[in-house]
Amino acid sequence: MRLRKKPHTDEKLQAFADFVTVGDVQPVQKDLSRKLYVELGTGKGDFITQIAERNPQINFIGLEVEATVVLTAARKVHEKNLNNVRLIVFDVSNIAELFAEHAVDRLYINFCDPWPKKRHAKRRLTYVSFLDLYRKILAPDGEIFFKTDNRGLFDFSLEQFATAGMTVRDVTNDLHANEPADNIRTEYETKFSAAGVPINFCVAKF
Ligand SMILES: C[S@@+](CC[C@H](N)C(=O)[O-])C[C@H]1O[C@@H](n2cnc3c(N)ncnc32)[C@H](O)[C@@H]1O
Repeated sequence: MRLRKKPHTDEKLQAFADFVTVGDVQPVQKDLSRKLYVELGTGKGDFITQIAERNPQINFIGLEVEATVVLTAARKVHEKNLNNVRLIVFDVSNIAELFAEHAVDRLYINFCDPWPKKRHAKRRLTYVSFLDLYRKILAPDGEIFFKTDNRGLFDFSLEQFATAGMTVRDVTNDLHANEPADNIRTEYETKFSAAGVPINFCVAKF
């Protein structure tokens, strides 16, 4: 997703400094009394704000590389008065520097950029080198919840999960055909579903 850089985004994010980190990011100190779920490529925050609202006993961190969309997500966190969400302007490529080993209980990858050209495959957030990073930070029983509209990316990702020695469950190529009551639609999910595009989903575990 390419966005025009809006002026003063970082200054505007300062208003949310109690739960938004931008710039010099320090390793996350986990609250050991709580589970920690992390969303990669949080976008405008529809998913993380809803799941955090439904699960106040769990801490959530959203990682998003584009500060402009983090600002939109931050406004939603603020409006809902959530105290269990933190947003970090951060490139997932560096995720192993952010979390201690096995500190993360669950990862959500929702509609990550498909990078359709074969020469860009290594940039997909489900490429095996990314999975190796996730393996380090995930708890032994930790899982990756993955959703995408893109069937090519989904099939590629299933191959990558297998290459990394992961098992998968709840695999579907049409999540909304029998949509679980607890499914939370992301911005992209809402958009693609309205356009009649089926949503692929699975849960992967090391
Ligand atoms: C297609 S959008 C999906 C947004 C949201 N998850 C949804 O489902 O509606 C992908 C998002 O991932 C972010 N992103 C892409 N690569 C990233 C990376 N390496 N690290 C962090 N965020 C990334 C993009 O900036 C964009 O906001």
